[in-house]
Amino acid sequence: MNKPAVLVARAVFPEVLTRLEQHFQVEHNQADEVWSRDQLVARLKGKAGVFTTGGERIDAEVLAACPTLKICANMAVGFNNFDLPAMTAAKVLGTNTPDVLTETTADFGFALLMATARRVTEGEHYLRAGQWTKWAYDMFAGSDVHGSTLGILGMGRIGQGIARRGAHGFGMKVIYHNRSRLSPELEAECKASYVSKEELLRSSDHLVLVLPYSAQSHHAIGPAELAQMKPTANLVNIARGGIVDDAALAQALRDRRIAAAGLDVFEGEPKVHPDLLTVPNVVLTPHIASATVPTRRAMANLAADNLIGFLVNGKPLTPLNPEVLAAA
Ligand code: DGY
Repeated sequence: MNKPAVLVARAVFPEVLTRLEQHFQVEHNQADEVWSRDQLVARLKGKAGVFTTGGERIDAEVLAACPTLKICANMAVGFNNFDLPAMTAAKVLGTNTPDVLTETTADFGFALLMATARRVTEGEHYLRAGQWTKWAYDMFAGSDVHGSTLGILGMGRIGQGIARRGAHGFGMKVIYHNRSRLSPELEAECKASYVSKEELLRSSDHLVLVLPYSAQSHHAIGPAELAQMKPTANLVNIARGGIVDDAALAQALRDRRIAAAGLDVFEGEPKVHPDLLTVPNVVLTPHIASATVPTRRAMANLAADNLIGFLVNGKPLTPLNPEVLAAA
């Protein structure tokens, strides 16, 4: 029997490729070339499945050009690269990789918060540049993390992980805003209080963004929101580029309307707004919140499990649009 054909759109762990090759005819991209949309579509022709990593846009046009496609397995929890309604209409299943990255990503959110509050990279750049000639009482004096108010916008699994770290590890007061309120049990576990978005902006010393990207969350933090924040506040974005208006943020940082920001995601990444590269009070990292070897391996294996589960056994592990399965 012919094995189904799948495309692995980016380089992956070799052992994950080997697993996939046991079940599928695999076209891979171990050279890790960044394909144009047309190149992606050309390679998708005749494929039953595709392993994506969050950067490959799958929309109605791609689906119309690739009618053999049955599943797109994203190696990411976020899936804003998928037009899910278009996939459902085309009866194409989407899957993502929830849970396996929750704690690792929450760790990183906290790392970025700490680095931002305590001006770690500013201090390092100063030292490396040979500018450290004497100690001074106010040298890179930042803001306290312990005992301060931690605000979280988007209280899914990763947001809850950050809340637990802040409340239990650093004695922070935790407030959050989310589309829906957590159960009283979860609020108690995270020691988190639900507040309006306005209250969150007004009261947070450290505001961490962990909400999914959508048309509704586009520029959820723009000039008006930045103006409501404390001038001493830090903003941390580990969610998605586009949730923050990066130009407005760069201006607010330059004008010291907020104290600092830590950003792992950017509008139009891997491009970064040039103004963010010139303001000193921002810590910038290249979308690495889930990047530990065990977690990236777990994400890759879960994406592979979804391809195998669906195309071989008819049972994907983490479907995003299970209505496609019901209709099959
Ligand atoms: C995710 O899983 O969504 C992370 O941002 C990595 O892409």
